[in-house]
Parts: sequence; C-alpha cells; structure tokens
Amino acid sequence: MTTADLEPIETASVDELRALQTERLRWTVRHAYENVGHYRRAWDAAGVHPDDVRELEDLARLPFTTKADLRENYPFGMFAVPREQVARVHASSGTTGQPTVVGYTAEDIDTWATVMARSIRAAGGRPGDVLHNAYGYGLFTGGLGAHYGAEKLGCTVVPVSGGMTERQVRLIVDFGPRVIMVTPSYMLAVVDEMRRQGVDPRSTSLEIGIFGAEPWTDQMRSEMEDVLGIDAVDIYGLSEVMGPGVAQECVETKDGLHVWEDHFYPEVIDPVSGAVLPDGERGELVFTSLTKQAMPVIRYRTRDLTRLLPGTARTMRRMEKVTGRTDDMIILRGVNLFPTQVEELLLTLPALSPHFQCVLTRPGTLDEMTVRVERRTDASYDDGVAAGAELERLVKATIGVSVAVRVVDPDGIERSVGKMRRIVDDRPAR
Ligand code: DLL
Repeated sequence: MTTADLEPIETASVDELRALQTERLRWTVRHAYENVGHYRRAWDAAGVHPDDVRELEDLARLPFTTKADLRENYPFGMFAVPREQVARVHASSGTTGQPTVVGYTAEDIDTWATVMARSIRAAGGRPGDVLHNAYGYGLFTGGLGAHYGAEKLGCTVVPVSGGMTERQVRLIVDFGPRVIMVTPSYMLAVVDEMRRQGVDPRSTSLEIGIFGAEPWTDQMRSEMEDVLGIDAVDIYGLSEVMGPGVAQECVETKDGLHVWEDHFYPEVIDPVSGAVLPDGERGELVFTSLTKQAMPVIRYRTRDLTRLLPGTARTMRRMEKVTGRTDDMIILRGVNLFPTQVEELLLTLPALSPHFQCVLTRPGTLDEMTVRVERRTDASYDDGVAAGAELERLVKATIGVSVAVRVVDPDGIERSVGKMRRIVDDRPAR
C-alpha cells in the first residue's frame, strides 16, 4: 500500500492532529452541554463549564460518563438532537439489566462508515474484495457497522450475520471472499465446521481476518494464522462510542490498534482514583467523541484495560490489545486473573484446543475456578490429561494461584455465534 491511498489525516503530523482535536473538542463539549440535560446537570454540579475546556488537557476537568448514566436516561435521554434527526438506533442486548440505547444522525452513520472503511483498508482489505461479514446484524453494532464501512471502501459485501455455521462454510467456499469479519471465537467454530465438511481451512480464498468484539491474545492470532493461512488483525469498538471501527490494527505492523483519534479522543485512567495516566501506563480506557452529533459521549468509561502507545504505521496513537474488562477480572483468593491469561498459557500446549471456559464455584467459603478446555481432535485422551496437569502447573507458576483444569472431549464446550462467554459464574449469591 502506498500512503497516497490513505486519508491525509492518517499521516498528518502530531501537531496537525492535536490542533484538529482541540477544535473538535471545543465544539463537542458545547454541543453536549447545550443539548443534553444530563451533561448540563452533571457539569453544573461539578462547577465546570464548556468555556473551561480550551485545550485537550482541560478535558480532565469534566466528570466521567458511565453506563449507569446511559441507563438512567433510557431510552433517548442522551440524544443531543431532536429524535426526528436520529436516522438509526442500536442497543445492547440488555441481558444484564436495562439495555443501553445509542443513536446516530445520517452524518454520524457516514462518519462511522468512513472510520470503518479506514479500518478495513488498514487491515489489508481493498476495493473490489469480496468480504464475508459474520458479525451479527440487528441491534448489535457489529454487523451493520462493518457492512456500511465495507460498502464505502468498495467491497462486495456478503451480509451473512452470525449463526447457521454450515451455511457460513458453504458461502466461503462458493463466493471466494478474501476478507472475513467475525468474532475470533465464532471463527473457531467455523473452522471446526470446515473440518467436519472436509474443507481444508488453509485451502479457502480467505487472506485476511478482522477479529474483534471480545478479547483475544497474540497466541490466538498465531493459532488462526496457522490454521487458516491468513493475516489476523484486531478491531476494537463499542456501541456507546460508535461501534466497530474505533481502533484498528494495521496488517503491516500488527503491533496494537491505532485509535482513530480524529474522531474518538482516548485517555487512560487509574480505575480506582480516576487520575489520568501518562501514555504507556496501563489502566482503564476512556473515550470522548469529537464529531458525533446524535449522541456525543464525554469521558465515557469503557471498563476496558489497556495502555496507549505512540503511533507507528499511522500518526495516531495505538492501544495495546485489550487484556480484559474491569468487570471480567476474576479475583481468586486475592489474585487477579483474566481469561486471556489462561488462553495465553493453554495455547502453548499442543494437546489443548482454544475452546475453553473459566467456571467459578464456591463449594465452601472460598471461591474456586475450574478451567474447562477441550482436547484437540488429534490428541489422545491421555495426552489431554497430561496437558491438563501441565496447564494447572503453568497457571500456578505464572499467575500464582491454584486452579483445577478439566480436559473435556472435542465439542464438549458450548460454541458462541458472537461473543463467547468465557466466565461461567456458578457461585451462590452472597
Ligand atoms: O462489540 C463493537 C464491535 C463489533 C467491535 C465488532 C469490534 C467488532 P459492544 O457490543 O458495545 O460493541 O461491546 C463493546 O466489547 O467495551 C470491549 O469490552 C469488547 N471489545 C470490543 N472489541 C474488542 C477487542 C462491540 N478487539 C465491548 N478486544 C468493549 C477486546 C473488545 N475487547
């Protein structure tokens, strides 16, 4: 790829980028304050006014926004434009309480398509590519978000959505896509189905996988790249900020995800004190939208843990692969643990497959965790048992806590069609 194919802002100087962000930030805080009751009340209570936000550093004076704020303003209370100007809404599934609703003007949808097209291009996708989109269509932002971006880039989109795995394989074989967009866990299920149908996963037309919507590790990247013979790159986003396409890894470097910070301004904070951390330090990611019309978000706490790094393939800063969410952190007898750490370790053992879950129980007074993991189809029962014992040892040695590992037969773990549930909490309520 030549830099001539990129949007000018992708290779602008840091100074140019900061100047654009500053101008956009001033607009966005005023827009939020003047048009959203929640922001006006929250900032008045904190004694801050849009006039106090002149420079990017001034952002730290404003209060955070959380999911609870969106819930309290359900369904349309966070909108900054009359409902008639909202061209589309999306919503979270609401399985863990009140769903949260987000809205877009027609121009917001165009901005979203632009950053999404930029993401697919950074991943190596090109106009004219056939793109198989297996992110779920509907209230979830994955399907439609990826769809409009792929169209904008000039791809031929196959809007399959998630599920009906047999058909996914048939369409890949028949339509010859070069790019697939899907959650990494569902990609694994599609690979299993390929094998079941006698299709060699390395023989397909696929060259690029754009995987996101859930945490996955570099070990999982190697696994996918080996098994499918593709480049696997990470895409990040969240509905409250836009949807997929907030940050994207470049295929030429695969060194973390460039945040499209001309539209989404990132901060990393200490999740306990709320203090802004310098770039390079790990903490909770916070976003301020810079151009959104229908639903500006100011200092939205994502609960995702990562750190910011300087730009490489693009000017914009990178975020390291997300290790997990603050609410997915397992605290086991005083030790903090994320499912991604288990994934990293188990993929070093050839007899174990990437299909696993962390099951929490409380048989007595203390919490216990069992890793349920499938043995690979080509591994013997005894190899699986030995690998399970080795995984117990590795977890103890590297994470510092004892867990039980139960190796189950192939197909013994439920498959996801979207985001995989890595933590199963079977503890009684306290
Ligand atoms: O998952 C948007 C999306 C769709 C992103 C398709 C990428 C691809 P939500 O359903 O609102 O939106 O969930 C957002 O998912 O706060 C993270 O916890 C997690 N997440 C998303 N992308 C990644 C990623 C979409 N690449 C929440 N790595 C976020 C780790 C991710 N976690």
